[in-house]
Amino acid sequence: MDGPDIERFGARAEAMLEELAAISEEPDRLTRRFLTPEHKRAAHLVGQWMAEAGMSVAEDALGTVRGHYGREGEAAGSNAVPRLLIGSHIDTVINAGKYDGMLGVVAGILAIEHFRDRNQRFGFAIDVLAFGDEEGSRFPTVLSSSAAVAGAFEDRWLPGLDVDGIALDQAMRDYGLDPQAVAAAALPREEALAYVEVHIEQGPVLEHQDAPLGVVTSIAGQFRTRVTVRGMAGHAGTVPMAMRQDALVAASEMVISAEAIARAHPEAAMVATVGTMKVMPGAANVVPDIVEFVLDLRASSDPPRFKALAEFTHRVEKIAAARGCTVTLETYHDCATAACAPWLQDGFARSLETLGLPAPRLVSGAGHDGQAMSKLTDFAMLFVRCKGGISHNPVEFASVRDMGLAVAALIRFIEDFDPARRH
Ligand code: GLV
Ligand code: MN
Ligand code: MN
Repeated sequence: MDGPDIERFGARAEAMLEELAAISEEPDRLTRRFLTPEHKRAAHLVGQWMAEAGMSVAEDALGTVRGHYGREGEAAGSNAVPRLLIGSHIDTVINAGKYDGMLGVVAGILAIEHFRDRNQRFGFAIDVLAFGDEEGSRFPTVLSSSAAVAGAFEDRWLPGLDVDGIALDQAMRDYGLDPQAVAAAALPREEALAYVEVHIEQGPVLEHQDAPLGVVTSIAGQFRTRVTVRGMAGHAGTVPMAMRQDALVAASEMVISAEAIARAHPEAAMVATVGTMKVMPGAANVVPDIVEFVLDLRASSDPPRFKALAEFTHRVEKIAAARGCTVTLETYHDCATAACAPWLQDGFARSLETLGLPAPRLVSGAGHDGQAMSKLTDFAMLFVRCKGGISHNPVEFASVRDMGLAVAALIRFIEDFDPARRH
């Protein structure tokens, strides 16, 4: 593998990401939520690329596109074989950039294409997985598609509603999937050798260290908690201020208290975000009676995260009571801090060294499918520098050269991959 190969990988990745980014629910910005017709179109395109790269392609009950590259001597159509899993996601946040998730899927496909072109097979099979629910931007689920592959899907997620009142199981049927078939998506433990993922960093560390790529050590744990505040609706012109039970003012205080709690724990890299809120009944001249918002709370280890949620719960109850409101909390996503396996981290570090690159190690504040896949098998991640550390924003950017290096590093990692190192 030389310089021109790296440039070519990068240019191919860029072109494929452009093509995927054109598939959006909205005309002027990239939004592609789980199980929408646009998710289906993107999944179809990815499946086509996988087939062109020499993989057999299947779709599971959650719409995950699964490309299979057989091991040395493997008969076509055989399944129960040990495999290295490579993946990422093709769903996006609302008004997304084009690299988050998609780069990892494209990198896996380009690596397989490289092996197919050289007739190179290994003592293990390789599956490339394109998940659809990493962002959790549609239903009250996060990582449900990777959880299904890991055998950790929870049936209680099926009735969860999107903003239009469509349940997850209904959306699966509308997409052409069978909610009864979720269990069959689970991969037997003995078939999964490891899960690895290439992803943009979504933070500033690599850029700051002048390193194109980095090796992830762990992924921060995360809660998503739906908070519902109930007060009393009233006339905006007549209800005196002292007599109001305004659910939005109470919710606003709650948001500020979440910020204060997170700011008090920089040692745990704690972050709290309220990025979505529904105000009801939603009229300019009505005192709001019901407000729903979601608290996204993360920390680099689990005990401070649990303590922070307990403190938040205590504070919101006090805030609600002081304003004549009530509050209920429902945590629908509780994802533990997940450590990347040292033997896989070392594998990525070796691959970077063979490319003459530094191999800095870093923690991921962002969530990833690896957290769900860690319930099935060891996992690791390779991060790619992104401009200004900006992500979840249309200006998200990774250079062609850095993406080319990431594909080259993934190829080296696979060539050097030896499941015997696991123990
Ligand atoms: C996914 O990008 C997340 O970290 O929320
Ligand atoms: Mn992502
Ligand atoms: Mn994301």
